[in-house]
Amino acid sequence: MTQIPATLIPGDGIGPEIMQSVRAIFTALGDPFAWDEQPAGMAAITTHGDPLPPATLDSIRRTRLALKGPLTTPVGGGFKSVNVELRKHFELYANLRPAVTLIPGQRYENIDLVLVRENLEGFYAAFEHYLPIEDDPKAVAFSGGFNTKAGCKRILRFAFEYAVAHGRKKVTVVHKANILKALTGIFLDAGREMAHEYEGRVAMDDRIVDACAMQLVLNPWQFDVIVTTNLFGDILSDLIAGLIGGLGLAPGANIGAHAAIFEAVHGSAPDIANKGLANPVALLMASALMLDHAGLRRSGDRLRAALHATVVTDKVRTRDLGGEATTSEMTTAILARL
Ligand code: NAI
Repeated sequence: MTQIPATLIPGDGIGPEIMQSVRAIFTALGDPFAWDEQPAGMAAITTHGDPLPPATLDSIRRTRLALKGPLTTPVGGGFKSVNVELRKHFELYANLRPAVTLIPGQRYENIDLVLVRENLEGFYAAFEHYLPIEDDPKAVAFSGGFNTKAGCKRILRFAFEYAVAHGRKKVTVVHKANILKALTGIFLDAGREMAHEYEGRVAMDDRIVDACAMQLVLNPWQFDVIVTTNLFGDILSDLIAGLIGGLGLAPGANIGAHAAIFEAVHGSAPDIANKGLANPVALLMASALMLDHAGLRRSGDRLRAALHATVVTDKVRTRDLGGEATTSEMTTAILARL
């Protein structure tokens, strides 16, 4: 089998530990990717004095495919989020977050929904500044956002096409067009327009974001594919991760015209780093999405089946999932299932 070139970014905190697990499992899958390992985040500041070194960008430009560990972002000051920079640099406009129940017997059973978040526009454009008043240089904080018609159409198209390709029946457009009439009204209008094109194939409805948050808690089974703007998508995607038992199980993909970067939804978990406690499942689920994306659906299914068997049948689980297994014990158990 010819190996597919791909960039591997171990990341910060628990990143290197869970990435080690992923590497072992990819070896068992026949090494489908020729990894080019590159640094980013705090790790890259230490080694290169730059959270996003040019060599890392060059690698992704070449491979157009990357698996990324979580990166630590300092709150408030410090450097800009490398995750946001990567999205902008490679125009990764679509953030895909499937939420599918893995472990039965939790608060919610049989969750199976997908959130598509616009990744580049909205309030995360972060045109931010402070206005000084008298001797306080930070007396007022301003932030501006924008949504373009082209950007709205592009993400809506992605969501509808995803629905068609994956046999999904409904797309719910989530907005706040009752208050942010321009900023999110443009998104709702584009959604309504696009729904006509898919009539008979994919149904469309819409929700105001606050109502959607409540309904996701009361009756998540009514949703199939949700598509929304950047900030709302960021919040709702963590909400849906909660429906399936938390961040340790939730994968994500950032997809654009020029590259695709796969990652776990969770962060670098500095509180448990280097203790052997990190759960590798979310990053492995992201790896399965990456295999699908690279046209290796059978390997992706094989990996998902092994994860399911390990966590559900064998009940080998890390502490965050209520078990006792260490990262390496979990890896060994998944390898045995593979
Ligand atoms: P976090 O997701 O790192 O941690 C939240 C809680 O979940 C912690 O108690 C942590 O121990 C636990 N947790 C997360 N992943 C886990 C795993 N795989 N196994 C077991 N337990 C796990 O979120 P937090 O603490 O808000 O952020 C830490 C850092 O990560 C920040 O610098 C943040 O900016 C960054 N971050 C990076 C992301 C990325 O690179 N995509 C996404 C989210 C946060």
